[in-house]
Amino acid sequence: MAMTQDDLKLAVAQAAIAYVPSDCIVGVGTGSTANFFIDELAKIKGKIRGAVASSEASAKRLQGHGIEVLSLNDAGDLPVYVDGADEITKHMHMVKGGGGALTREKIVAAASAKFICLCDQSKLVDVLGKFPLPIEVIPMAQSYIAREMVKLGGQPKLREGFTTDNGNVILDVHGLSIMNPTELEAKLNHLPGVVTNGLFALRPADVLLLGTPDGVQTMTVK
Ligand code: 5RP
Repeated sequence: MAMTQDDLKLAVAQAAIAYVPSDCIVGVGTGSTANFFIDELAKIKGKIRGAVASSEASAKRLQGHGIEVLSLNDAGDLPVYVDGADEITKHMHMVKGGGGALTREKIVAAASAKFICLCDQSKLVDVLGKFPLPIEVIPMAQSYIAREMVKLGGQPKLREGFTTDNGNVILDVHGLSIMNPTELEAKLNHLPGVVTNGLFALRPADVLLLGTPDGVQTMTVK
């Protein structure tokens, strides 16, 4: 029987467990792939001290499994952060934030020694930008940032009815073809009112576990 996208997500989530050191606090991402990882983590919960979650939703799921959730302030630096992505290149640059958790994801990733990215093969792309780039924005800056995005050639759309865990809004910017992700990430970071942009390129993933019908491929930047 043909493998579904969920089968591929489960396979990469299972493979990620090998990257979790004994007795550690694990950084945990957000989204459907991260959920598979949380469910796998539950099976080895006696081996870890707890987790730092990148969203309220992931914290709830972890706690539902009886895994202790710590604040990043209490946990300190983490050995590993495990999360999905919306798009990733072979350079390990990513677009994230489809689930709207990009700010906390970027913070927990920054505080982690290793970023393990879990994707099914549909997420591996040559050029980022086909997936609309999420930008978390302070509400009063929404229109200003939208105009700035138009100047950059994008078509910003407010994510209707959505508020982030931090009380902000998300603009999803369509139509960008992101040839230089590190440059664009830095540029967007400097716009007043932008909390976080969904480019994860300045701090790329260290390992990509890619789910394919032929098995899980492990990729790193050479
Ligand atoms: C959430 C994210 C997710 O990692 C990304 O959206 C991928 O989600 P999924 O595993 O459901 O495809 O960045 O903010």
